[in-house]
Amino acid sequence: MYGVVAVDGSTESEPAMTTAQTVLVTGAFGLVGSSVVDELVSRGHNVVATDLGSPANRKAALKRPGAQTWWADLTDFADVEKLLTSVAPQSIIHLAAVIPPLCYARPDLAHRVNVGATENLVRAASAMPVPPRFVQASSVAVYGPRNPHRETELLTAQTPRRPADVYGTQKAAAEDIVRSSGLDWVILRLGGVLTAELGATINPDAVFFEASLPADGRIQTVDVRDVATAFVNACSIEEEPAVYLIGGDDSHRLRQSDIASATSAAIGLSGGFPAGRPGDPGNDPSWFATDWMDTESSQRVLAFQRHSFADLMADTRQAAGWRRHVVRPTSRLARAILARRSPYRGYPGSYADPWGVVAAKWGPAASSE
Ligand SMILES: NC(=O)c1ccc[n+]([C@@H]2O[C@H](COP(=O)([O-])OP(=O)(O)OC[C@H]3O[C@@H](n4cnc5c(N)ncnc54)[C@H](O)[C@@H]3O)[C@@H](O)[C@H]2O)c1
Repeated sequence: MYGVVAVDGSTESEPAMTTAQTVLVTGAFGLVGSSVVDELVSRGHNVVATDLGSPANRKAALKRPGAQTWWADLTDFADVEKLLTSVAPQSIIHLAAVIPPLCYARPDLAHRVNVGATENLVRAASAMPVPPRFVQASSVAVYGPRNPHRETELLTAQTPRRPADVYGTQKAAAEDIVRSSGLDWVILRLGGVLTAELGATINPDAVFFEASLPADGRIQTVDVRDVATAFVNACSIEEEPAVYLIGGDDSHRLRQSDIASATSAAIGLSGGFPAGRPGDPGNDPSWFATDWMDTESSQRVLAFQRHSFADLMADTRQAAGWRRHVVRPTSRLARAILARRSPYRGYPGSYADPWGVVAAKWGPAASSE
């Protein structure tokens, strides 16, 4: 059921109507996983949600009674083999990962999870009598730093990969494991995933790291609910194995500093985030690994873009509710505290230097593998 012709004559793809599948979701109680599990359950699939059995994950699982939970450490092959043999999924949505900035603080752990766990899952899936489809979460980090002054074209699935940091290198290695496996695979390279739910992604290290990124770097964000739609649809598309870029519609083509200013305004902290440093136009490796992307073909196949950036901010405002009025008077104080904790307080130069900041905070092994 692809390529349905819309009334205006354009080709508006809808995902095929599919029968319920047994789907295994890894990293099921993380940011993306929680939304994927919700979407699968709401669409009538039989969902097995697996994650580390941490207290936070166990609490998140209680909110999702529609999914069966299975606690496992995917870096342990015996755990993975037992899981796959018991569940016998038709599709695996593999989201478990150690993402920035934790992967910079713990690069060895990140390797065991981002590469090793993918290897374990692929090996166990390949040995099954009826091997499942493997839907792999990847990232635009595989393209490496992107200087918008020199690289003005949009990212596509064909843009050469040039990973430069721990995370991009590990995600590229995981892609290679999946692609060479012989399994039926789909790879989704995600842009900057945002949620309207308050507090879901805020921690001091994440705030510090994001403040280090070039304020004028290009980033394409995407609502986590749309990411979930893309992953669920990827379980049933009939295309040949392929890589798809998952970013929101054109309203999500932003500069890095737009995210903090729009989000802080939505929660009542207008002007609460200090302006960051611009990137150095003459220094390509000093930029961060995000950019705008051409999502035309992924939208045609996966039909996932439903929430504009304005929709997302409206939902963020609504989620903040009465708290917006309580925090509004603290905007100047928040700005002063964040300025004091800025990665660039007393830092030489005037341009952003995210990899220098990462290495200074988490050690020289942090920014490259
Ligand atoms: N969040 C983004 O902006 C973004 C961007 C690009 C790509 N991605 C990719 O999307 C996927 C999901 O990201 P997210 O934002 O939900 O991350 P997250 O950190 O919120 O969730 C990751 C999950 O993996 C689990 N996990 C970690 N180690 C594990 C192990 N050893 N065994 C089992 N589970 C383990 C964690 O408990 C956590 O629930 C990842 O593969 C990530 O690389 C995310």
